[in-house]
Amino acid sequence: MKYLKEKMNNKQFLKSDFCNYNSISGSNKIIKSNSYNCSRVFTVLAAILLIIAFSYTCIQEYEKNTFESQFLKREIKTLNDGYLSKKLEDKICSITSDIEKFDCFPRGNANQDSCEQRNCCWSPIDFNSKPPWCYYPKNYNNYILVNMTETNNGIMSYFRLINNTTYTSDIKLLCVEISFQTIKRLHIKIFDAENKRYEPPYPEVPTQKNKELLNSEYTVSMDKSKVAFSVIRKIDNVVLFDSKSVGGFIYSNQFIQISAVLPTKYIYGIGEHRSNLTLDMNWKTYTLFNHDSIPTNNINGYGSHPFYLIMEKSGKSHGVFLFNSNAMDVILQPTPAITFRVIGGILDFYYFLGPTPAEVITQYTEIIGRPFLPPYWSLGFHLCRFGQTFSQLIEVHNKTINAGIPWDTHWNDIDYMKNRNDFTLSDDFAKLPDYVHYLHKIGMHSVLLLDPGVSSREPNGTYPPYDVGLKQEIFIKNSSGLPLEGQVWNRDGGTVFPDFTNPKIVNYWIDQLSRYHNLVPYDGLWIDMNEPSNFVNGDWQGCAFNDSYNWENPQYIPNIQGGVLKYKTICMSAEQHSGRHYDLHNLYGFTEAIITQFALTTIRNTRPFVLSRSSFSGFGHFAGHWTGDVFSTWDDMSQSITDIIVFNMFGIPLIGADICGFNGNTTVELCSRWSQLGAFYPFSRNHNSEGCIDQDPVSLGQLVVESARKALMIRYSLLPYLYSLFWKAHIYGETVVRPLFFEYFYDENTYEIDKQFLWGSALMICPVLSKDEIHVNIYLPNDLWYDYYTKEIIISNGSVFTLPAPPDTIPLLLRGGYVLPTQVPATTTKLSRKNPFGLIVTPDKSNEASGYLFWDDGDSLDVWENALYNEVHFTYKNSVIISEVITNNYIDENVTLHNITIFGVNDVPKYAWINNKSCETYFYNKTENVLYFQQLNVNLFTKFNVTWA
Ligand code: GLC
Repeated sequence: MKYLKEKMNNKQFLKSDFCNYNSISGSNKIIKSNSYNCSRVFTVLAAILLIIAFSYTCIQEYEKNTFESQFLKREIKTLNDGYLSKKLEDKICSITSDIEKFDCFPRGNANQDSCEQRNCCWSPIDFNSKPPWCYYPKNYNNYILVNMTETNNGIMSYFRLINNTTYTSDIKLLCVEISFQTIKRLHIKIFDAENKRYEPPYPEVPTQKNKELLNSEYTVSMDKSKVAFSVIRKIDNVVLFDSKSVGGFIYSNQFIQISAVLPTKYIYGIGEHRSNLTLDMNWKTYTLFNHDSIPTNNINGYGSHPFYLIMEKSGKSHGVFLFNSNAMDVILQPTPAITFRVIGGILDFYYFLGPTPAEVITQYTEIIGRPFLPPYWSLGFHLCRFGQTFSQLIEVHNKTINAGIPWDTHWNDIDYMKNRNDFTLSDDFAKLPDYVHYLHKIGMHSVLLLDPGVSSREPNGTYPPYDVGLKQEIFIKNSSGLPLEGQVWNRDGGTVFPDFTNPKIVNYWIDQLSRYHNLVPYDGLWIDMNEPSNFVNGDWQGCAFNDSYNWENPQYIPNIQGGVLKYKTICMSAEQHSGRHYDLHNLYGFTEAIITQFALTTIRNTRPFVLSRSSFSGFGHFAGHWTGDVFSTWDDMSQSITDIIVFNMFGIPLIGADICGFNGNTTVELCSRWSQLGAFYPFSRNHNSEGCIDQDPVSLGQLVVESARKALMIRYSLLPYLYSLFWKAHIYGETVVRPLFFEYFYDENTYEIDKQFLWGSALMICPVLSKDEIHVNIYLPNDLWYDYYTKEIIISNGSVFTLPAPPDTIPLLLRGGYVLPTQVPATTTKLSRKNPFGLIVTPDKSNEASGYLFWDDGDSLDVWENALYNEVHFTYKNSVIISEVITNNYIDENVTLHNITIFGVNDVPKYAWINNKSCETYFYNKTENVLYFQQLNVNLFTKFNVTWA
């Protein structure tokens, strides 16, 4: 992270790869040479004729040039056809169906006059139907092409504004830069060619310029007469994103809009929000503006992820990322089509061609940053609650340990603070330092909550976090240049907000955190309320009105809760080191996570663990996330499956919901089932709100204890498998939790399944999600499956099955074809890591299987960079298991492989051999058709083989 400090010192927060209109002609081939010279010839003509004629001449000039690029030839040819026929007044309003209408009047009441003033089409329909009455003509256009240049890896074109829209300050000259970045990744950036506009400083997207045009898997077709393009998959000519056949492109200062027709309705992503796994195409608006609200349908959530993934008809998949951190609405309609309405920044699109959904995520995380590798202990079970005294904590501690429930980390909510102020300790929690030392002694860990807001109303000189911060000027300022003051949890009534884009914050944050770490040696940090949340709207003083009017009240306000941007957050006009909060709002939690992760690494010099409520694209490189203040209801429990799946698509695999629910009282049955499901969240934490009944497993009685213990024992036994999945996520950008369609993308039946999910490719989790159920009905794609408990083989050709689900048990299935590394479970990961390893082998229909193990000390930094890990591959075929040691650089005391369990063995083995020597320590269970090897005592990290006959 050294670069972070350097970068901060250099204050290089804003991107500089800005395309300079005046400088392109020198360095690139000019397709239409100097357009200004062209125009001189026609100065006597009327304005509109001049533009048309001049463009025509430019195109003719283009044709005199010869080009190597087939791509360009074809595109420019399209440009020629009918170019001159364009006339602004010839609105094409005729459409074949209402679903082709794109809303031209998203705010206010339209009537025929006001609609037509916008150059749009007016066609009232029935009041209750959703299609707009005022819609864009298909040929709606405000820009005209003036220049097009071939670049090393694409095309750069310039469009001049010819018509003002009703939105203030239309951008006069746009640059459309198309870059064929890799054969599967396309970059299209549309920006103001004359004035630099805001672009998000994070994530740090790698820039890539190719020397020549690639033989890419896609083509781009530009429109001849407007700012519009289509992205086409070459192999089957499927149009992935078609903005050519729709109108409505607008690029004004605070309203940027682009619509496109999509190939199918199977679209996923666009978070953070609460909805089904497949997004709703029925004229639905998803709003991205980070916000503290109980997760609720139709309300903007804690984080922003302007990314989607689509399943195409052929089973191929692609993804699209709009790299923009401003508030936005994303509208889906049944065409199927998408509209992005963004209130700042630029249009900066990345297209990922997949073609499998897994590859789309790999390609996406290559751009935004791969997920961090969590410390091994953080994959254990976590227990937490808000509204807990120190003596209650000790009581819960003792009873949880006595119940033998696997448990790794105790969390402290704001209760440990004095007056709810960061970096303080209340009298009641005076013994917290001793407790944390004790946790360490027994191999457990501690995570503390930290709110970003610092109390601003403590007596002068008594609260260093405020006094020092004030002196160092690291708090976000209001438009008068004074620290903006709102209020969050702090009891004394005032809160100021550290600016995590200020280079000085690094030392400030390290100082505060290390001072506190000397007192309470915590292992991880839970950064909450960082949307940022504020109990005051804006600032105690109000937000500046006059000169900041446009920031608090832009012409278009996305569909946010509260109706105003400052609602439950700080003023949009507030000033941060990297710019205005208006632009940076969605990055607040993300930048806090970056700085906190860096500070924690500096302080502890081991792998950092940070959990944050607010997030943005690329955040998974630094921290994990939980889904916030969900209710203790069956619905919320069910919803959590979609949430953990989608966050894996966002490159944030360390994700979970509060087990048993946060708000409201849970019930024994709900908490029992939720404990079963939660044991299979990548991040598994039971957390509860102030004032609710206790919901730690023991407090709710025997059933919940049984459920939690049983499911968590299975989790702990599978941790080597889970950790290896996190490793693959970290290095290759794979997902840890997946929906079925990631593995069965050729099976459309899987596209909407959000009640079952997979850990990697091999383990299917089928939780009970409603009351009084002791069975689950699940869809099994065409494959061979094994019941985890009974070992029974289930052969499916793609149909629904019913599995038993006794009250204390979560149905689990293993997929044929895999080898899963395991370890005998224990009550902490520290202990389980010392236990013997095992393998579960699940042969597929061809009697084959494979798998891998990634292993390291689970806590060191940069294990990949320093190659301090072990990687072992396993293959099974026709009664032979062999291992291949790819890397063996981590020396562990514990290397023993004791157990191998082979499912689906039909014949009783008469002999067995380990490393070609006869082996007696096996038995065959006829009822289960399972062969068990035990007490093998083989070194897992040297090559071995196991055979039977
Ligand atoms: C927020 C968090 C919640 C926490 C509470 C008190 O509501 O989302 O998890 O318990 O604040 O700190």
